[in-house]
Amino acid sequence: MSSTIVSGMRPTGRLHLGHYHGVLKNWVRLQDTHECYYFVADWHALTTHYENPEGTGGFSWDLLAEWLAAGIDPDRSVLFIQSWVSQHAELALLLGMMTPLSWLERVPSFKDQQEQLRERDLATYGFLGYPLLMTADILLYGAEQVPVGADQVAHLEISRELARRFNSFYGRSPADAARLEAVLAQLGKRMTGAYGKLQQRFQEKGDLLALEEAQVLLGRVAGLDAETRELLLAHLAGKGRSILREPEALLADAARMPGLDGRKMSKSYGNTIGLREPPENVRKKLLTMPTDPARSGRNDPGNPEKCPVWPFHQVYSGPETRAWVMEGCSTAGIGCVDCKNTLADLVLEDQAPIRERAEYWAGQPEKLREIAWEGARRARQKAEETMEQVRSAIGLDAAAAQKP
Ligand code: TRP
Ligand code: SF4
Repeated sequence: MSSTIVSGMRPTGRLHLGHYHGVLKNWVRLQDTHECYYFVADWHALTTHYENPEGTGGFSWDLLAEWLAAGIDPDRSVLFIQSWVSQHAELALLLGMMTPLSWLERVPSFKDQQEQLRERDLATYGFLGYPLLMTADILLYGAEQVPVGADQVAHLEISRELARRFNSFYGRSPADAARLEAVLAQLGKRMTGAYGKLQQRFQEKGDLLALEEAQVLLGRVAGLDAETRELLLAHLAGKGRSILREPEALLADAARMPGLDGRKMSKSYGNTIGLREPPENVRKKLLTMPTDPARSGRNDPGNPEKCPVWPFHQVYSGPETRAWVMEGCSTAGIGCVDCKNTLADLVLEDQAPIRERAEYWAGQPEKLREIAWEGARRARQKAEETMEQVRSAIGLDAAAAQKP
């Protein structure tokens, strides 16, 4: 089976072209090769926007509509809203029990954001716990890979450390020990003998080959399911069973879209173009972009490498148009208005179908709700499977709480 991907976005505003080219297009591509879980991180939005949460709910629906418009396919991927799947909160709570405070306090964004967003009080328990909730988001689905931006790598490092810590504490629960004993008793004398010898070779002599041989040996035993085989292998290696998988960051490729002023495209810099911004606005914003300062007059030659318009051409224009810009700019053969109008045509052409689909979805709240509902159902199913293992590993037997 293909491997699992999990990623989320906080519903704190409308998406812009930076999100589209830097994140969403990658999400869309991953659907071809992976089992993808994409969710609206509304609880995460509350960690910074708890004082005025009214935006969060509305933006959640905007975000879903925009994802669908960009090509996220609800038949192939699981799309859901975080707060609809309560297992995220439960796992975050349990992880909190075993998370050293120092791990959270040393996450760079904890201090950075407090300094950058001075108008907000971020000295809260929820904000400190941001990486824990994110860890729960990921571990619940056993994600191998998590597509994120470079700013999230420190959070993912905590996720990996927490998975490891959990496994080392709880990977050898009493239930596991009892099961091991039962399985070993069933294996038969010859098999148990061979298993014991390999265990000795590995644990006493550090013989790595013994692990491989054990894999082959256990592979030959009929009727062993994958989980039991893993339990036996882990026991042989003197380790606990791996209950929570350590995820890896899948860094979005650096083909990111800079903003109108050449800095990173970001709402806080006021240099964005909205994914579904009206065409007149888009053209106006592009036409008033700053250019290479050397081209102060129509007849002064310029250098696209020094112009914020050029990275847009690199995203939107084909090789011919780019050659036309390079040549025309450096010889003053074309003016900046020609250059920008050509770009605007291409941006608008690319945006048109997205804008159309986003408007369609925005007008279909019932259908959106159905998609979110179905996504939450599928997410809960998978998340609950993980939680059952987690609870039983910790010794919290919630199943026993059912009425007999
Ligand atoms: N912290 C992420 C961001 O701000 C959003 C997020 C929340 C996330 N949970 C996640 C991303 C789990 C990946 C996986 O961009
Ligand atoms: Fe920039 Fe285009 Fe003007 Fe050259 S012609 S300075 S690339 S806007």
